[in-house]
Amino acid sequence: MKKIVLPAYNPNILRAVMSLRVEEAPVPEPGDNEVLIKVYAASCNPSDIAFMAGSYNVVKSLPAVPGFEGSGIVTEVGAGAENYYGKKVSFFTQQDEDGSWAEYVCTKTSNLLILDESMDMDQAACFAINPFTARGLLDIALLQNTPAVVQNAAGSQVASFIRKMASELDVSVIDIVRKEETAQLLKKQGSKYVLLESDPEFDKKLSEWSKKLDARLAFDAVSGSMSGRIINAMPEGSELVVYGGLSNKPVTDVHPLGLIFKDKVISGFNLGSWRQLLDDEYFEEISRELQQHFIAGDYQTRIQGKINFENVIKGLSQYLKNMSKGKVLIANE
Ligand SMILES: NC(=O)c1ccc[n+]([C@@H]2O[C@H](COP(=O)([O-])OP(=O)(O)OC[C@H]3O[C@@H](n4cnc5c(N)ncnc54)[C@H](OP(=O)(O)O)[C@@H]3O)[C@@H](O)[C@H]2O)c1
Repeated sequence: MKKIVLPAYNPNILRAVMSLRVEEAPVPEPGDNEVLIKVYAASCNPSDIAFMAGSYNVVKSLPAVPGFEGSGIVTEVGAGAENYYGKKVSFFTQQDEDGSWAEYVCTKTSNLLILDESMDMDQAACFAINPFTARGLLDIALLQNTPAVVQNAAGSQVASFIRKMASELDVSVIDIVRKEETAQLLKKQGSKYVLLESDPEFDKKLSEWSKKLDARLAFDAVSGSMSGRIINAMPEGSELVVYGGLSNKPVTDVHPLGLIFKDKVISGFNLGSWRQLLDDEYFEEISRELQQHFIAGDYQTRIQGKINFENVIKGLSQYLKNMSKGKVLIANE
């Protein structure tokens, strides 16, 4: 089988992408409670980019096959995994094992989401992480009963799921983006409160809008000084939930008086920990519910292209140039 191999971590992400190579390898065999998946397609997410740069939470022994999620069919099963044979699945895999950028991958049954027969396999390749992340973040909004939320990197796929789910719950959204073209696109799609990071009146507008809408919760995928600017501008009692580090910088510029005298809070979110809080039955119920939205066509991951293994460098470079345009899928052909 073919697999894509990262020989070394490189903080220069373009160099890391350029170093990827396609290798031939024997098809792996599933162990106990594992399955072998014939991968249909695999997504590239910011976490894969951070992984290749060597700046992610997951560090694998090198050389490594990147890719934390994908879709496919179970073609072989280990002991204890017999029920999964022949199933269509989405999967999420982060252990020190080969990732999804390969023709075949072995993973534990606990990493699988069994798919409805009608689920589109391209959409399924980006199903295991982002829609669930948006759902987890929206759960915080529901718990806090906030009428509005603020989010940055608002052109991302997680952000678009947050907008969709928030509108179903009648929660307003203030969207922050870094590019004018993304701001225009969101406005065209119906977003009412769109703020450009470079707007000279950024802090004033964010303060006015969050006060007017009573937005007391912000989802921060960028970190760096943006974290401080957002929480500083928000009303008393607000919480900034950091769930991404796209700027590759530490959280900075937070005004200490806001934390001390205005009950502001900064916290973190990650999908894995949220998943651990849910019992399996409830998680499966969420999975079925989300799949129904995908099948009905009201939820969708934007996909800008599909590439084969030979074009992986070109395809990932294209994604890095314009991430808001959608995911690039590495597809088996
Ligand atoms: N904590 C968790 O469990 C969890 C789970 C899933 C995702 N995430 C995080 O969620 C975020 C979005 O993921 P995704 O897959 O939805 O992303 P995506 O669809 O690939 O889009 C990435 C977005 O980030 C924007 N962006 C990139 N670098 C930026 C920067 N330095 N400053 C501002 N904006 C920047 C891009 O804008 P341009 O078009 O302008 O480049 C694009 O809109 C990421 O941070 C990811 O790590 C976290």
